[in-house]
Amino acid sequence: MTIQSKVMVDKNFVVADVDQRIYGSFIEHLGRAVYGGIYEPGHPSADEQGFRRDVIEAVKALQVPIIRYPGGNFVSGYNWEDGVGPKDQRKRLLELAWWTTETNEVGTNEFADWAKLVGSDVMMAVNLGTRGADAARNLVDYCNHPSGSYWSDLRIAHGYKEPHRFKTWCLGNEMDGPWQICAKTAEEYGRLANETAKVMRWVDPSIELVACGSSSSGMQTFGYWESTVLDLCYDQVDYLSLHTYYNNNYNDTANFLATSLDLDHFINSVASICDATQAKKRSKKKLMLSLDEWNVWKTIGSSRAEQRWQIAPPEFEDVYNMEDALAVGCYLITILKHADRVKMACLAQLVNVIAPITTTADGGLLLQTTYYPFLHASSYGRGKVLQSIVSSPVYDSKDFTDVPYLESVVVYEEEQGVITIFAVNRHLSESMALDVDLRSFGEMSLLEHIVLEHDDLKAVNSTASPQQVVPHAGGSTVVDQSSAKSMLSKASWNVIRFSVK
Ligand code: AHR
Repeated sequence: MTIQSKVMVDKNFVVADVDQRIYGSFIEHLGRAVYGGIYEPGHPSADEQGFRRDVIEAVKALQVPIIRYPGGNFVSGYNWEDGVGPKDQRKRLLELAWWTTETNEVGTNEFADWAKLVGSDVMMAVNLGTRGADAARNLVDYCNHPSGSYWSDLRIAHGYKEPHRFKTWCLGNEMDGPWQICAKTAEEYGRLANETAKVMRWVDPSIELVACGSSSSGMQTFGYWESTVLDLCYDQVDYLSLHTYYNNNYNDTANFLATSLDLDHFINSVASICDATQAKKRSKKKLMLSLDEWNVWKTIGSSRAEQRWQIAPPEFEDVYNMEDALAVGCYLITILKHADRVKMACLAQLVNVIAPITTTADGGLLLQTTYYPFLHASSYGRGKVLQSIVSSPVYDSKDFTDVPYLESVVVYEEEQGVITIFAVNRHLSESMALDVDLRSFGEMSLLEHIVLEHDDLKAVNSTASPQQVVPHAGGSTVVDQSSAKSMLSKASWNVIRFSVK
């Protein structure tokens, strides 16, 4: 049996331009993300600074425009001064977020160098756990001030004549979480964020600031936290952060693939709170959203105790399967559908720790299943998101009702004259006939129809079988003037691209 669905768009009905920073990611001093991930002196592919060239290439291919650093929970105990200056004088310290030993071999300047190598900007986070406004404004001075102050001259003395000019700064991380080093109440954090933002901007008025939203929508204080924090710092910040992780909790794939409906609801809820604050304050400023941690995370909540004081022990090295790739595809589509509000998003994380890229025990590199939907979205999902009229049969699952079998979004790259449809068929046993109606575009031709699918939804890529789950071209799409008929395999991720020149 085949189910039937339809997508219709008009080139004049635009949701918003895609802000390329929605294809951001995240590197934290956690597990083997930095040490043994991006940085491994002595590895055959390491450059003169110790950065692995094979990892650089895999990241570059993803075209990640911005990378959040140095945490995460790590940042709430981090003294940034420990990570700059001569490496042989850097301290080894007990790191309290993950109970490891931090060698400080990689710090702000090295990360800035690495980010340049992969073609990314840095989204810097400041420590609002153990520290505050003073350390934050000094860090902005060190990173962004040209010269003539103690901190900027120190950067120059450390070999970095040109300022890094980091534009985007996170005011702490998940400050509502009891696991956070020096967690805060909403009132404490709101005031601290406001005053810290103020002095950071006094040092560099060109920066953009992200205030912490709740650690997740599951926090007891979710909602209250957002509105209280925004009451206290609305005028000083540009974005509010959202964090969310999903998993196939009940081993129920239909339900798991519907979790993007929760992401959709989460984004709408936080946007509403921002708008309510805007209304209360009679402000002209509409706050934008930074979904700066999202992913599938299977090992979430596992104990850190056994890892005490090791250096870069493997942590949270989730192995992603086919259904995880489908879920990631659904999240990417959902983020795109909110292009008018979500201006930054970070796949958490990028290398080894809940990541699409893994460095393996044999010294090699593995691209996980989730690498591919991210690669496709980042490569082809730039331009304008068009308002789609979608019709699709729906299903109910344990946690969700009226889940459309078709999850899709349409992006128009006007300059290249290319339309891309990202589509997931959530049906686990039936293929889907998709009618595409692009009537306002005139005649079009098919560029490609890429498919990611596998009969076994638990299939993974491994060192022994690295190509188990990889995309292939040749999906079924037939064009007729300005419409097309596609066939989407059961449980598949599809990228259908048309030339509309
Ligand atoms: O991404 C891993 C961790 O998840 C981050 O350190 C923290 O912010 C979140 O809880």
